[in-house]
Amino acid sequence: MSNIIGSISASHIPAIGGAIAKGLQHDEYWKPFFDGFPPARAWLNARKPDIVVVVYNDHGLNFFLDKMPTFAIGAAPVYTSEDEGWGIPTVAPVPGAPDLSWAIIEQVVADEFDVTTCQEMLVDHACTVPLQLLWPEGWESIRIVPIAINTVQHPLPSPKRCLAFGQSIGKAIRAFGPELNVLVVSTGGLSHQLEGERAGFINPEFDDLCLNALINKPELLSKYSSHEIVELAGSQGAEILNWIAGRGIVGGEAREVLRNYHIPISNTASALQVLEAV
Ligand code: DHB
Ligand code: FE
Repeated sequence: MSNIIGSISASHIPAIGGAIAKGLQHDEYWKPFFDGFPPARAWLNARKPDIVVVVYNDHGLNFFLDKMPTFAIGAAPVYTSEDEGWGIPTVAPVPGAPDLSWAIIEQVVADEFDVTTCQEMLVDHACTVPLQLLWPEGWESIRIVPIAINTVQHPLPSPKRCLAFGQSIGKAIRAFGPELNVLVVSTGGLSHQLEGERAGFINPEFDDLCLNALINKPELLSKYSSHEIVELAGSQGAEILNWIAGRGIVGGEAREVLRNYHIPISNTASALQVLEAV
């Protein structure tokens, strides 16, 4: 039986990758954002996760608008990144955990989630930037299961469906034979909109509502439709769906270990939340 330690949820803005590459962590602009991470790393290093389930959305690197699965699960032995055109370096390959991937796939399909299984999958900034923030020295000690949710092309899955999807994944992890410590990393958000008339839109009140609900009342977010989420959080703020699914994976009761919220990084309300399963 494996153990779910908790979750770390963080924004995944590509410019963060650029700031890391240029060593700008202590610059005035970046410091309030990067200062959230040493305590998150201290928490995580004390708990020694073996496997990290990364819940994120692909932005056109592995899936494009022509083929967009609602829920996709990586089942590859290794995941690589590629140039997405943001001008940020690619990162070292990330080892996969296909044994846990397949256990999750078996469970979610049994629970009637029709997922796309990916025995090859490129991972974009939404997966790699949070890994760089959490394992700045490299990720030799962990293996990952990447889980991609469509937050990009409508129709998007509802918050209710994402929470239930996460709960099914959590069931699979807890039933997984080897006694492993599993951490959930959910990425994206919080409120932001990159294009159109509302470009630059940020909604701190809704972000605060989400952060509070995610601690122990994630079902409060289930009442919104995905269109309402877009209205309240911006079109890319729909990435909160990844956080909702991640919270479903942790399940049960949680304790908020740390929260850091800072506006803006690039065009986004950046946020970091660490929840420990209790
Ligand atoms: C930005 C935010 C994102 O979530 C993303 O995927 C790309 C860019 C931004 O604010 O620049
Ligand atoms: Fe994004």
